[in-house]
Amino acid sequence: MCGIVGYVGSREAQPLLLDSLKRLEYRGYDSSGLAVVGASLQLFKSEGEIAVLEGKMPRMQGSIGIAHTRWATQGKPTTVNAHPLTDCAGKIAIVHNGIISNFMELRESMTRDGHTFTSDTDSEVFAHLVESEYKGDLVQAVMKAVSRIEGTYAFAVVAEGRDEIVATRRESPLVVGLGDGENFIASDVTALLKYTNRMVYLEDAEVVKVTKASVTVFDASGNVVPKTAQKIMWNLDDAEKGGYPHFMLKEIFEQPTAIHDSLLGRIESLDTEPFFQGTPYSSVKIVACGTSYHAGLVGKYIIEELSKIPTTLQISSEYRYSPVSRENPLIVLITQSGETSDTLAAAREARKRGNKTIAIANVMGSAITREVDHVIYTRAGPEIGVAATKTFVTQLIALYILAMDLGTQNRTLSALAKRSVIGQLRNLPRAVQDVLNKSSEIEELAKKYASARDMFFIGRNINYPIAMEGALKTKEISYIHGEGFPAGELKHGPLALLSKDSPVVAIAAKDHTYEKMLANISEVSARGSPVIAIGYEGDTDLQKFADDVIYIREIPPLFSPVPIIVALQLWSYYLAKERGCAIDKPRNIAKTVTVE
Ligand code: F6R
Repeated sequence: MCGIVGYVGSREAQPLLLDSLKRLEYRGYDSSGLAVVGASLQLFKSEGEIAVLEGKMPRMQGSIGIAHTRWATQGKPTTVNAHPLTDCAGKIAIVHNGIISNFMELRESMTRDGHTFTSDTDSEVFAHLVESEYKGDLVQAVMKAVSRIEGTYAFAVVAEGRDEIVATRRESPLVVGLGDGENFIASDVTALLKYTNRMVYLEDAEVVKVTKASVTVFDASGNVVPKTAQKIMWNLDDAEKGGYPHFMLKEIFEQPTAIHDSLLGRIESLDTEPFFQGTPYSSVKIVACGTSYHAGLVGKYIIEELSKIPTTLQISSEYRYSPVSRENPLIVLITQSGETSDTLAAAREARKRGNKTIAIANVMGSAITREVDHVIYTRAGPEIGVAATKTFVTQLIALYILAMDLGTQNRTLSALAKRSVIGQLRNLPRAVQDVLNKSSEIEELAKKYASARDMFFIGRNINYPIAMEGALKTKEISYIHGEGFPAGELKHGPLALLSKDSPVVAIAAKDHTYEKMLANISEVSARGSPVIAIGYEGDTDLQKFADDVIYIREIPPLFSPVPIIVALQLWSYYLAKERGCAIDKPRNIAKTVTVE
């Protein structure tokens, strides 16, 4: 996720672009830059937040320009990798939001054709593609260039001597703002509301030519597409959250895209570019805190199932003080921020102990990435809500990919089984969308239980950690005391806590533990606790035992944690909303814990 803005009109572009860009900083903040077309094409960029760019930027004259704030996904968050990026001659500048999955092949073939690349980004290939297709018509050049790209994108392009911006999108957002004698483009309306509330939305593969006097939209075949402007009535705060009342809800709804992005171009390349070559590992240890630790607990099941490699876990703050074992496991550190001090200390300790380390992180260039041998980035984009949602789900995606890689190296995952896993992974965005479509139903149910003081979550097998994560989300944002248990543990203590005032959320996916789960549900019910079950559509047995059921579409057990946690994220969100809590900034906790 990155932010793009563009302006063409009669005002000086530089201050306007900078002002608009600041409103998109929530989309990424590791570097930023501007290109302004005046007498020549001028360009300035810097690593760090937009304030850093602003502090050192020279005056740029011209009334046409594009700007970008970056959330790195390919290439480190450095000035060289900041956008805009240019062609060889420095006459064409582009900004990009998305992921170009075939950039390696394109880069190799264009290098052979004589193009010189200056950055490590996937995006730069687009500047060179436009350069090689440009024969005096920028729209035509952009159309031809995008036809060679695989992946997701919103691009905006300017060129020296041209009084236009050409932009296009596929699966990444882009809007055109209509002014009087001036027009704009942006990743979202937030950036433009100060200047206009009349917006034109682009569909996938459409290309737009924006001048100060006109906006012309073309389809992929070059036909003009008539468009009607829409009036946006949001205020700035609403707009930044995309119209959602909280960042957390927005981020929950971004999960189908986050999963899609995290898979893009990766599962296909596992055979040719494995993470680990050489000796297969005989054991794995996962180290993390909080929600990331819960992802690790699910990861244990995934890794053991797909690679048969025994996997253990440890909380980061405990790992450092644990005795050194004779084993030499692969250490997997999971951290959204990449800055959690206990996880960083664990990474250093692991290297001191001579272990190979791999991090699953969301923030490119964060501290953990300098402490480990290898990084798998989750491509969730920035997460603003304190409660981790889309980063948890993309951590699971990274773990499926890692497990497939280990299974392949270990020769425990057949080609057939791998194909089936890949097929299931590709289905996940749809499975999650199905759950999101039930949000109103989940909201109604949450209202019914929002006055509870205690709430228990039970699951078995791979969904036991999901019960723990559901409880963590609930306690963290709604302040209801939530506890997650393996359902089989109920009899060993927790049953004593049950009463009619302590609802129990029971995960009852149809797997080999299902019958036992039904027995647990009836046990809980017999103690007078209301039961809210999460089960599969068509499972009529559940209604007999539970007071309420959240139904989701059936999915093979190994992949069930993904849609089920989305249902529980919505559940905790609506409980908190009903209780009037400060959802995006819960009391006493910080997004990144940089002290031990
Ligand atoms: C809960 C939550 C925290 C983090 C934990 C680790 O919603 O977000 O429990 O998971 O503080 O943070 P990272 O993943 O940044 O190391």
